[in-house]
Amino acid sequence: MMDVVRTSLGWSLCVRPARREDANAVERLGARVFDPESAIAMRNAVLEHGLPTTAESKSVAATYYLAAETEGAPLVGMIGFFRLRWIGPQNGFLGWFAVEPEHQRAGVGTALLEFLLNRLPSLQVRHLLVETSGEGSSAVRFYERNGFVRVSTIDDYWHDGSALLLYRRTL
Ligand SMILES: CC(C)(COP(=O)(O)OP(=O)(O)OC[C@H]1O[C@@H](n2cnc3c(N)ncnc32)[C@H](O)[C@@H]1OP(=O)(O)O)[C@@H](O)C(=O)NCCC(=O)NCCS
Repeated sequence: MMDVVRTSLGWSLCVRPARREDANAVERLGARVFDPESAIAMRNAVLEHGLPTTAESKSVAATYYLAAETEGAPLVGMIGFFRLRWIGPQNGFLGWFAVEPEHQRAGVGTALLEFLLNRLPSLQVRHLLVETSGEGSSAVRFYERNGFVRVSTIDDYWHDGSALLLYRRTL
């Protein structure tokens, strides 16, 4: 499966589900955008993606999508979606959302979010949630600009003691 999305600046990107062989490229993206620990977690998410879920699996229906100019070209960004087994299927999470630093702020993230949102009604998802951090961060500004509403703040949550900011967009 391969889709084409167009950014607001007219850039066309090919979007497709991640495959196991993308693990190294995804880890490099994670290391540039987040930190080494997150990069490994992104790598593992991609390696587990597509494997049949079992009764012990924490997430169900996890899908990670990659964007590049053409098939085989360097990654431009990634967006993931997953549902957790113990949460109602009407709630889905945005996960591992990242755009290469040199391509940020050019509409790629918005185009990837629209791509994902278009897929959610067929999965009966009514709310898209995302956990983030950093008052005033690029992510917070991005979500607030894109129709997400902050529904919860939990202090002293992440490894560095910063707060969890939970955002939700209702479809
Ligand atoms: C969040 C992220 C995925 C958005 O992707 P993007 O391609 O940069 O998004 P867009 O270009 O569509 O940005 C749209 C809006 O997001 C906000 N934004 C994005 N990057 C920003 C930055 N560096 N500083 C401030 N605002 C920013 C702005 O409001 C921007 O609109 P504007 O440029 O008209 O002001 C990307 O910035 C990123 O990878 N950030 C680091 C990783 C991260 O925080 N991921 C989310 C974790 S929950």
